[in-house]
Amino acid sequence: MDSVNQKVGTPNLHAAVPYVASDKRYDEMVYRRCGRSGLLLPAISLGLWHNFGSVDCFENFEKIAFTAFDNGITHFDLANNYGPVYGSAEENFGKILKHGLGAYRDEMIITTKAGYDMWPGPYGEWGSRKYLMASLNQSLKRMGLDYVDIFYSHRPDPNTPLEETMGALADIVRQGKALYVGISNYDAKQTKEAVAILAEHKVPCLVHQARYSMMDRWTEPELLPLLKEKGVGMVAFSPLAQGLLTNRYLNGIPADSRAAKNFFLQKSSITPELVAKIQSLNDIAVKRGQTLAEMALAWLLKDERVTSVIVGASSANQLLDSLKALNNLQFSAEELNAIEKILK
Ligand SMILES: NC(=O)c1ccc[n+]([C@@H]2O[C@H](COP(=O)([O-])OP(=O)(O)OC[C@H]3O[C@@H](n4cnc5c(N)ncnc54)[C@H](OP(=O)(O)O)[C@@H]3O)[C@@H](O)[C@H]2O)c1
Repeated sequence: MDSVNQKVGTPNLHAAVPYVASDKRYDEMVYRRCGRSGLLLPAISLGLWHNFGSVDCFENFEKIAFTAFDNGITHFDLANNYGPVYGSAEENFGKILKHGLGAYRDEMIITTKAGYDMWPGPYGEWGSRKYLMASLNQSLKRMGLDYVDIFYSHRPDPNTPLEETMGALADIVRQGKALYVGISNYDAKQTKEAVAILAEHKVPCLVHQARYSMMDRWTEPELLPLLKEKGVGMVAFSPLAQGLLTNRYLNGIPADSRAAKNFFLQKSSITPELVAKIQSLNDIAVKRGQTLAEMALAWLLKDERVTSVIVGASSANQLLDSLKALNNLQFSAEELNAIEKILK
C-alpha cells in the first residue's frame, strides 16, 4: 500500500483524475488465439477472485487494474461471488471502469461466471436457466455494463440437464448479454458433451477455464487434448497455485499472505516437504534468471494449447513481476527433466 490514508473498499474520490492508459500498452504483451475463434487473449490475464473485495484496499486494487491494462492485459476475469462480500469485486470493478478504465471498453475482455453459491434459496447456485439468467443480469448491473465478453457456467451441475445449462448460455449470447460463452471446472467427459450441445445451438464453446499449474496437472491426460481437438481455448486459473509457486513461502508464512489470511489456501498445507520442493524449483528459476513466479507461468505458456494464464495479485509489483515471465518461455530438455523430478 502506498499511503496510510487508504480506506478499505472505498474509492478515494478526491484523487479522481480519470485514468489515462499508457500509449505503450501494446508494446510487450503477446496475444494468443483462443481455440479456433476470432478472439485473441493476452498470454497473461488478471483475475479478481481475491484482493478486489469490499474488505480490500480500493487504491491498491485500482492500481493493480490500471497496471494490468497499461501492460497489455486486456482480459479481466470475474465471477458473481468474488469478494468478499459476494458481488463486491464486480461492484469495485464497475467503479474502476467509471474512474477511466471504461473509456477503453472496446479494448477489453470482461468475463463473469455463475455456478457457485451466490444468494439464498433454490435459485442462487448451480446450473439452472433461472439462476444463470438472473445472476448475469445482477452482474451486469454491478459492473455497470450492457454486456460481458465471456459468460461462464462456473461448474457442472449434476442435477440439471446439461441441455438446460447450455441452452441458457446459448440464449444469453442471442440476447446480446455475452459475446461468447465458456465452461469452467467441467471434466473431459462433461466438456465433450457441453461442447456438442452448444454446437447444436450454433453457439461455439469459446473457452474452458481450468485449474492448472505445476502443482496441479489434472488437465493434462484428457482435457487439454480434447480442447485442442475441438478448437476450444484453455485458460489456466491459479497458475501460481495461489502463491505457492512464488517466493512468498520460501521463508515461512508472511502475515499479509493468502495462506495467513484466507481459508482457500490452508496454512497446514504448507508442509516442510512442500517448502523443500518450492525451494528446489526456485533454484532452477534463479539459474534461468527468473523469479519462481515467472518460471511457473512460463512453464504453462510453453504449451501453445494454453491460451492464457489468469494470475491473481495482491500488489501491482507482483503483477509486474509475473509479466516478466513473457521474456523467456523457452525451456531446455535438461530444465524440464529437472522440474519433473522435483514435481514427482
Ligand atoms: N473458474 C474457477 O473456478 C476459478 C477458481 C479460482 C480462480 N479463478 C480465477 O483465476 C484467478 C487467479 O487465481 P489465483 O488468485 O488463485 O491465482 P494465482 O496467480 O495462482 O495466485 C495469486 C496469488 O499469488 C501471489 N502472487 C502473485 N504473483 C506473485 C508474484 N509475482 N510474486 C509473489 N507472489 C505472487 C499473491 O498471493 P498473496 O495474496 O499471498 O500476496 C496472489 O494473490 C482468480 O482471480 C480468478 O479470476 C477461477
